[in-house]
Amino acid sequence: MNARTTRTLAAALSLTAALAISGCSSDSGADADAADAKPELTVSGGYMPEPVNDKMAGAFMVIKNGSKTADKLTGVTSPLSDDLQIHETKDQKMQQVRSMDVPANGELKLERGGSHVMFMGLKNTPKVGEKVTVELRFEKSSPIKVELDVKERTYKADNSTAH
Ligand code: CU
Repeated sequence: MNARTTRTLAAALSLTAALAISGCSSDSGADADAADAKPELTVSGGYMPEPVNDKMAGAFMVIKNGSKTADKLTGVTSPLSDDLQIHETKDQKMQQVRSMDVPANGELKLERGGSHVMFMGLKNTPKVGEKVTVELRFEKSSPIKVELDVKERTYKADNSTAH
């Protein structure tokens, strides 16, 4: 994204983050069945478009759930930033959410223009070809470490075109 988009997105974010947090009281406890069956999650296609600066960066991947137990992505950590958020995109504006569903026998797609992981403030600016490690936290599954490939800014994963 160029500098102007970044500013617009940042403004949109600061507006919506507070709303998203305060409006997020329902903890839909829909775990009626299979409380002890652990979800089986696999992550593929993780990448980060080369950041423009050290202010923010997005990360994308697909999280597949091969079990009949639904899970939730609840947070992300990385050595590259102390502040990682999970964002949804609604009406082309990003908003922070507390968690995202990883449906049973389904997948959570983090893709351009949609839901994504957002690094707020980077300790350095990774270049194309480098790797960034993140750790995904889930409501039920154990944390999963993922190596993100840093890609060209125009890069689009194959999976993001399938609609
Ligand atoms: Cu974002």
